[in-house]
Amino acid sequence: MNLKNSKIKKIGVLTSGGDSPGMNAAIRAVVRGALFNKLEVIGIKRGYQGMIEADFEPLDSSSVSHIIQQGGTFLKSARSKEFMTIEGRQKAYTNLKSQNIDAVVVIGGDGTFTGAYVFSQEHDIPFVGIPGTIDDDIYGTDSTIGYDTALNTVTESVDKIKDTANSHNRLFFIEVMGRDAGALALNSAVACGAEGVFIPERNNQLNGLINYLKNRPESKNSGVILVAEGEKSREGDIWKISEKIKEKYPKIDIRVSILGHLQRGGSPSAKDRILASKLGLAAVETLLDDQKSVMVGIKNGEISLVPLSKAIKLNKEIDPGLVKIMDCLNL
Ligand code: F6P
Repeated sequence: MNLKNSKIKKIGVLTSGGDSPGMNAAIRAVVRGALFNKLEVIGIKRGYQGMIEADFEPLDSSSVSHIIQQGGTFLKSARSKEFMTIEGRQKAYTNLKSQNIDAVVVIGGDGTFTGAYVFSQEHDIPFVGIPGTIDDDIYGTDSTIGYDTALNTVTESVDKIKDTANSHNRLFFIEVMGRDAGALALNSAVACGAEGVFIPERNNQLNGLINYLKNRPESKNSGVILVAEGEKSREGDIWKISEKIKEKYPKIDIRVSILGHLQRGGSPSAKDRILASKLGLAAVETLLDDQKSVMVGIKNGEISLVPLSKAIKLNKEIDPGLVKIMDCLNL
């Protein structure tokens, strides 16, 4: 790496899209990593919208003290419609230039990286992405910042629902976030010992559940079925699925529970803080190494660089081993 001779003297950092636990830890690592390398850092508030409105704040070491353990993002986040327009991106570029910002680290998911990629096609300011989303749906990284925390939050929440399901002999359908991806739902289902899971990456799940309920032992009269929110584009949303089961088995006492945005909050797990710290520092070093339009991810414990064009185009596959576990252990 050619860190010393880099032309980059001042960087910006932002969080964009849905927030995720560990984003603060990632901002901290970017800021401290930049200061360690004698760079100035500007915090860009409210994602790309703040870039368009020049909502900038210089950051120093103490700006990121005591935030590693905090959920959310102190830089705030937004989904900017204006940044999707060429005029919006031009305004953002003008603001970055007027602040002498030489490069930007963006922390977020698919939409954030798409914005960064399009911007870098039009303008000469390098962007590097850090994957931060609870959805764990980004190609080229084994995990995204916030996913581990959300997985633990969902697991704890479902454990609680299982207590009441068991007391009342009820079958609960529980909706789990993930946008179009089923990773969070599938992993939570395995962790909770759920009776079933619906994920958008799989076919014919309704028949599978109907058969399971037909054959389940009489002693087993409660259960939880996890439904990924992205399933609505396939078998139907959680309400439709539960209604179909009710029609087929009117005697089953069914309830629906939507976990919602609690999945996005909370203090990040140790794993997410460590991942965020690794990726934050790596993002700064990647910029100093004259890279642009790449995402820094983690593969088998090592930092990996993935072109943004690939990260936004390719789909992350779900783990077939977990699908097998759901099929084999659900007796
Ligand atoms: O991408 C993170 C995520 O929480 C998705 O799982 C979910 O579909 C979406 O964001 C919800 O977005 P919003 O907070 O804008 O409703």
